[in-house]
Formats: sequence, structure tokens, C-alpha cells
Amino acid sequence: MHAKAKYRKDYKTPDFTATDIFLDFQLDPQHTVVTAKTRFQRLNSESTTLRLDGHSFQFASIKFNGSDFSAYKQDGESLTLTLPEESAGDFELEIVTILVPAENTSLQGLYQSGEGICTQCEAEGFRQITYSLDRPDVLARYQVKITADKTRYPILLSNGNRIASGESDKGQHWVEWQDPFPKPSYLFALVAGDFDVLHDEFTTRSGRKVALELYVDRGNLNRADWAMQSLKKAMKWDEERFGLEYDLDIYMIVAVDFFNMGAMENKGLNIFNSKYVLANAQTATDEDYLAIESVIGHEYFHNWTGNRVTCRDWFQLSLKEGLTVFRDQEFSSDTGSRAVNRINNVKFLRTAQFAEDASPMSHPIRPEKVLEMNNFYTMTIYEKGAEVIRMMHTLLGEKRFQQGMQLYIAENDGKAATCEDFVSAMERASGVDLTQFRRWYSQSGTPKLTISDSYDEKKHTYQLIVSQLTPPTADQMDKVNLHIPLKIALYDKNGIPITLLNNGDVVSDVLNVTQKKQVFEFHSVSSRPVPALLCDFSAPVKLDYHYSTEQLITLLKFAQNEFVRWDAMQMLFAAELRRNLTASQQGEELTFSAEILTALSHVLANYKENVELTTLILTLPKETEFAELFKTIDPDGIVAVRDFMQRTIAENLRAQLLETYNAIQQEEYRIDILDIALRSLKNICLQYLAFTETGNLIVNKHYLHANNMTDTLAALTAATKAQLGCRENLLRDFEEKWQHDGLVMDKWFALQATRPDSNVLELVQHLMLHPSFNFNNPNRLRALVASFANQNLKAFHAANGSGYRFLTDILIKLNETNPQVAARLVEPLIRFNRYDSQRQTLMKRALERLSEVEDLSKDLYEKIDKALNA
Ligand code: TRP
Ligand code: ZN
Repeated sequence: MHAKAKYRKDYKTPDFTATDIFLDFQLDPQHTVVTAKTRFQRLNSESTTLRLDGHSFQFASIKFNGSDFSAYKQDGESLTLTLPEESAGDFELEIVTILVPAENTSLQGLYQSGEGICTQCEAEGFRQITYSLDRPDVLARYQVKITADKTRYPILLSNGNRIASGESDKGQHWVEWQDPFPKPSYLFALVAGDFDVLHDEFTTRSGRKVALELYVDRGNLNRADWAMQSLKKAMKWDEERFGLEYDLDIYMIVAVDFFNMGAMENKGLNIFNSKYVLANAQTATDEDYLAIESVIGHEYFHNWTGNRVTCRDWFQLSLKEGLTVFRDQEFSSDTGSRAVNRINNVKFLRTAQFAEDASPMSHPIRPEKVLEMNNFYTMTIYEKGAEVIRMMHTLLGEKRFQQGMQLYIAENDGKAATCEDFVSAMERASGVDLTQFRRWYSQSGTPKLTISDSYDEKKHTYQLIVSQLTPPTADQMDKVNLHIPLKIALYDKNGIPITLLNNGDVVSDVLNVTQKKQVFEFHSVSSRPVPALLCDFSAPVKLDYHYSTEQLITLLKFAQNEFVRWDAMQMLFAAELRRNLTASQQGEELTFSAEILTALSHVLANYKENVELTTLILTLPKETEFAELFKTIDPDGIVAVRDFMQRTIAENLRAQLLETYNAIQQEEYRIDILDIALRSLKNICLQYLAFTETGNLIVNKHYLHANNMTDTLAALTAATKAQLGCRENLLRDFEEKWQHDGLVMDKWFALQATRPDSNVLELVQHLMLHPSFNFNNPNRLRALVASFANQNLKAFHAANGSGYRFLTDILIKLNETNPQVAARLVEPLIRFNRYDSQRQTLMKRALERLSEVEDLSKDLYEKIDKALNA
């Protein structure tokens, strides 16, 4: 019944390619007519059968070299043509299709967003517009003519340069666009609507002027500046760090409200979820600002890593995504704080990606088997993919890495490449052997490094005994040894770093772990050292080393590497949580280590030395972060113990928290790293203070005095989490002020969905009827429903199964309207093997109910099938 899976090993070069595509759009939300004239070229001289992909439109007509043509077969997803032998070498097809953008709730292909019309073609959305060779290794030149009503759609955009425009009858007008760079169909884009435009300009280092245009809904120009600044920063940064310059005369970004993902790198015409464009002090938090900068960078960087060099097939997705995430992370790190960026990225990877690798969806960064490509825009492809690039960077160093990049681009510019092409370029340019390293591309799962050590007091030698093991995953039983770069440092008891020596030579702080078990020896170590292991998270692995509390406190206080200090605190928190969870399960009293409280107090007292790190160290891991520590998750226990930890820290550090809170005074709102750091420290103090006696007073005042969204939301969050008396008032005030603005209301919806209250599910169900809510808007769904299912551990996993039933009901509806988003939302349910048997039964029951739905989408089917039939 369901479409067959595709396998990486089955890749074949195409028999035909398209060289030139002329698209004519007669736009209308209810009835759009698309005429696609395509020049084809035969690559395999044997073939007379041409299979084109296409579905979800009305097929009106086809012409072959200008004449009527009927030698084809149509099925639900393709059109197969039998070509006349004599003219199969080089020919033209003209295909007419009819679309209804207003009814396309899948947000793939051509669809209506608000009052405008736009496209989303990655991965396989172009085939919802017309029959085509919809595969990334078919690169063609595009020319696009758009005709539409002039008042409704004054702005008509597509890729490349505007080459002509004019008026036509019945109040219509038209614009013609031409993209000089051949591209795969997934990079095609079209936008029509009524927008305000922010204009700017960038001069490339070779002196070319590029027009920059940012399109936002009317009235939103006061939220467009930051995105534009971010774009210019990204353009400059890519020239300086990677030597890569923009290649067209115009770069356009359009913000739309209905979008399945973050943003899309269509050549010369990026389309963005408005969440990653719009910001001003009143509507966006510091976090939003930084996310915008990173996504703007990400899409811009795709121009080289993705567009100029694209992917041969979708199994190679990480070639562009892993690399581009690495690039955007480096951009954010060079622009802002490197340590903060690293810590936040690692937090995300350790929770979300590790969880994915432990789930039925586990796959290598280059998957072997795919049923629905949309299901593989994952944490693994993106974030773990970026870690794999980062490890190469660690092994090669910046200079040789950049030489590898230059070679990679020189060899593959204008082509559709593979992950192997990338690694091979890195290897040849650097001379570093990456043979074993390549296994990171084919092996899934999270490796575990088990480390022990020994110190010889007489010889003054220190040994690290390192072994690696990757446990079996859902997709792959047998695992091999990987090449793991393990970055370390050694400290003496006073926190002074020890030079790494072996036989008198200074040795690298990056150890090459390549075997099942290895011993690394260091000489002239005068006392037993404290090892800092996996510094900067030099590889995406789990670490098992039995640290003592004392050792961790030494690292927390003295390590030079900021990441190591933060990580030491994470381990201390984890130990406290584990111990207390066991205690609570055995009905014993909960306790908090006095040493750790003292250490926290020490960090807070010295906050001026490193404001941003202080905040990160003080931040208690989220429930979901703690959950990842366990094979079987106890939702109620984790929530209760975390709550205890939070209140204990608040009580014990109260005076100091209050003092710090009061000491930080900021009048004006500025987006600059120190200001952001101070705000976040002040606000973490506020989160703890909310749990103390005077919490209500302080939080209420904080809300009333806030002159920016970061502070407003901090107060609202504190009030909600600590269930303060003021919270209903504050929530109502916020709602009244922002109910007209869905994007801002998302913050409110997300907060409601993560309330600690026992009736939260009822509330969430009720909020689905709120006038600001819209079931067809993925941002709203993510804010309310995904926040509930992913962030409210206790309520979603309620032992009576009410959370699971709620989500299942939504998924049944969403299966029809937006399968791509449905398949993202189903994730928490397919991870049932992490819960106790009662919950497992309930979760499986929910999945079985889903699996019986008629017309189950490929997207949901693939995941449910993996979960239930593993
Ligand atoms: N290529 C986009 C990015 O990483 C991701 C993306 C945007 C996407 N929209 C999509 C992927 C729709 C699949 C479907 O920047
Ligand atoms: Zn991307």
C-alpha cells in the first residue's frame, strides 16, 4: 500500500537531464495555471522511457516538441513517457498543470501563506507544481514568468535577476525572472504578495555591488533591521573566514507566517519563517535575536555549501546541512561568544540528537534507507553532521581545513556532489588520513568512551586508559571502532595546568582514539592530576569516567577552558539528581550536597570575571536534559527532584541572588554581548528568586518595569513556573497586549503548555480554541502542542495516558492537513522504549490507533512502522 523505500546503494545516474526550464505561472489562489516548457537531453543513449515525478495537481495537457502527445502512463506519483526513438536525444516537453494554492495546507509546493502565495520545494515539493525530474542531480537554467492580479499581488518574485515586466488585461501584471546559475528543482522559488521592503546594499570584496531586499508583511518594517544587519555581517564573514563571495547582483529574503521549517536557501530568493526574521526590542527576546542571526547566516552560507555545490542525491543531505550548520555555528562564535555558542550547541546535541540516536529513527548522518525524505531533516543530519565536520576541523586545524574547503569547492562548483567528495578533498588537501574517520558517515548511534586512569607516584607517569563502544541501534546491530578525537587537559590539585609530555616532548592535547582500547601515557607529572576529558566536546560521544565531587569542583573553579567548567557543573547536577531520584524512589529524604552549594555560591560571587559563563553554570538542566541521563525515564521523579533542587538552590543562595539581581542595572536595551550576558544573569537570578518568599513582589515588579521582551518574558516565565500570585494577571496582561500578533503569542502559548499545574492538559485543549491560535500554522502548533508534548514531561506522560490520547487526536487531523509537521510531532510517542511498561503500553496503543487511520501519510507511516515493527 505504501511507497517503497529508497536505498542509497541503488543510486543511478539519471537517463535524462533537463537543461532549460521555462515556467509560466498564471497565479490565482483558487486556480493557478502552470505551463512548464522543459528542454531535455538524453544521457543514456539506450533509454526511450522518461519517468517524471508529479502529484497533487490537476494534469491538463502535454506536448512533445510542440505537438500533441499521448504515449504516457500516469499513476498517483508520476508520468511515464515512451519517447519516439528518433527524437529521444534532445527534445522539449510542454506540460500544463492546475493548482489550488489556497487549499494546500501541506505548505509544500505552491501554497498560500496569509495574503501571499509562495513555494517550498525542498526536498520534493517541486513535483507538486509540475511533472519534472525532481532530483538534485538534475541541474537546469530557469526562466520564470509570473502573471497575477496587480492589487492583490503587487510584488512578484523568483530566483535570479528581474529581466522584464509589464501590464496585462483585467488588472493583471507580470514579471519575468532569469537565474543564470543552473540549479536543481528544490532550489526553485516563487513569491507573490503585498509586502513592505527594506532595501540595502553590500559591496563584495571584489567591489561588486549587491542589492539586498528584505520583504516583510505590511507594517512590519520596524522589525526588519536586525535581519538585514545579520545578512550583511554574514556576507562579510564568509568572505573573511572562508574566502567566499556572493555571486548574483541581488539577494532577496521574504518572511512568511506559514512555514514548515526555519527557512529555505532558494537561490537568490530565501524564504523564511517570519520567526527568523522579525525582531524589535518589544517583540523579540535576546535569544530570538541570536537565532535570527544564525538562521540568516545559515541560509546565506548555503549559497556556496548547498547551491553552488549541491547534493547528488538526498542521502547526501548532510553534505550541505552538516557543513552549513558548522559554518553558521562558527559565524555565531566569531560574532558573539564562542563558549556560549559551544555550550548551547552541545546541550542541544546531547539531549535532542542523542535521544534521536537512541530512538527507532536512529540513522547515520548519511542514511542508507529513506521512505519519506522530509523525515530526514533531523538533528542527526544537521547537528551531528556539523559535529563530524567539526571533528575534521579539529584533526586538520583551521589552515588545512580551509585548504580542504577551497579544493572541495574548486572541484565541485556547479556540480552535485557526495559526502565522499568532501572528505576526499579534505584528505588530499591536508595529507591527513581520514580512512577510519569516514566511518562516522555510515555508523549510527552514540559511541561511549569509558576512561580510567592510573598514576605512578614513583615514575611520575600518568596513564589514561580509553576504550570505545557504540551500542547497537534500531537500524544497525553491528558497530565498528571509530576515529575519535579526544581533547584533554590535566590540572594539578590547585588547578594549575600540567604540560602534556611524553618522553620529554610536548604532545598534542587531542588524542586519537582509534581502537577498542588504548592507553595514553604522560610523563613528568609531579602529582596525581585531575583530568579534563572531552574538552569542548571534541567528539559527539558519551563519557564515562568516575569523577569525584572534589575533582569536579576543581575543574569548575579552575579549568581554563570555559566549556570544561560548565561541563563539570553539569556532572555535579547530574550526580545530585541521580542520587535524589534513587532516594525518592526508596521513600527517603531528598538532600543537596553542601559542597556543591558552596561551589555555586563561589561562581556567583565571581560573576564579573565571566558573566555569561556564570549564567550557564547556574542554569539547572531542563527536565528533558535530565531525562537523557536515564535508560528508563521516570517523569514524575525527575520533575519532583528537579523542583527540589531548584528550590534548595534558591533558598540557600537567596541573599546572594538578590544582591546580584539588584546590582545589575540596565537602562537602555541594547543587543550587544555584554548586555545580553548581564540580562541573562539577572534573569536567571530572577528565576530562582521566584521560588523564595519575596518572589511574587520581585517578579511582578520586574514585569512592570520591563522595557523589552527578554525581561517581560523572564518575569512571565518566573511567575508561571513558580505559580506565583501575580501570574494570572501578568498572563492576561500579555495576552491583551499581543493577541493580534501570533508570533509574539507563541511565547505565551509555549509557556501555558509547560505550566506545572495539574490541569495543564485541559488548559492546552482550551487554548486550541483561542482566537490567536490557528491549527494550520506550524508555529502555533509547535508553540502549543509540541511544547506540551516535548517540554512538559510530567503532563504529557501522565500515567492515565491522557497526554498520549490528546496528541494522537491531533495527529489524526494533522495527517490530512500537514503530514510533514505531523511526523515531527509524533516523535515523543515513538520513543516509548524509554518509559516504564505501563506507559509503553499506552504509547503503543496510541500508535496503533494512528496506524489504522485511512490514508496514513508516508511521513507518519515510516516512523510508526519503525517504532512498532522494530
Ligand atoms: N534546507 C533548509 C535549511 O536547512 C531546510 C528546509 C526548509 C526544509 N524548508 C524545508 C526541509 C521543507 C524540508 C522541507 O535551511
Ligand atoms: Zn540548511
